[in-house]
Amino acid sequence: MKMTKYITGGLMALGAVMLISSCKDKTQPGKIYMPDMAYSRAYETYAERDSLLFTNDPSKKGGKRVYYNSQPVSGTIKRGELFPYTLPNDSAGYAQSANVKNPIDFMTGFELSETKRLYDINCGICHGEKGKGDGPLSTSGKIGGIANLTLDAYVKMADGTMFHSITYGKNNMGSYASQLDRKQRWMIVKYIRTLQPKPEAPAAAPAAAPADTTATAKS
Ligand code: HEC
Repeated sequence: MKMTKYITGGLMALGAVMLISSCKDKTQPGKIYMPDMAYSRAYETYAERDSLLFTNDPSKKGGKRVYYNSQPVSGTIKRGELFPYTLPNDSAGYAQSANVKNPIDFMTGFELSETKRLYDINCGICHGEKGKGDGPLSTSGKIGGIANLTLDAYVKMADGTMFHSITYGKNNMGSYASQLDRKQRWMIVKYIRTLQPKPEAPAAAPAAAPADTTATAKS
């Protein structure tokens, strides 16, 4: 009985001490249980990052720097993102890119309008809203050689080649790998197709041929 009294008394005293000590300074956070959670490492867009650990900076010089054009940590993949594109940024990779299939074969109305928005923001400034190569940077003469994507050469260009050039850039055009994720880049390629003249138009002539053949056979 005495023992229980001592324990209850002890606990009450401890409680009182805790209560008083917790009132000491309201501006201090007190003890931190998990410092890593209380002070998490910043991954804000323009926060400094260690080049050896947190970027795929090819120079690997080390030290903290701000990466204005940073890409996801190498070897990582964000949720919902497509698998990495592995062809290298050289002439052999460019040639092989024509064989890479566009994983996007259908876009909903919402996806299409979202892709138009992305195209207008990132590409329209040079290629123009309709892809004719007449965006403000082209008409003002600031940047030369901007492709008119509605020309036959680009109608015939494989989706994979377009994706390759958008990923790595080409001559006066920069890389869009850090601004647009892989899915968005493939969707933009699909969107460019909607700006181009329909390839069905020339196909109409051969389609008429079988009808003629039947006619000849009958006559
Ligand atoms: C700063 C101006 C500029 C911007 C912005 C730009 N491009 Fe280009 N683009 C060019 C130029 C210049 C070329 C011609 C490159 C060459 O063949 O020399 C080109 C070529 C292309 C080609 C043909 C690539 C090839 O292999 O011949 C495609 C496809 C293309 N651009 C798509 C895009 C898309 C999609 C965007 C937006 C994500 C974009 N471009 C943004 C300037 C630009």
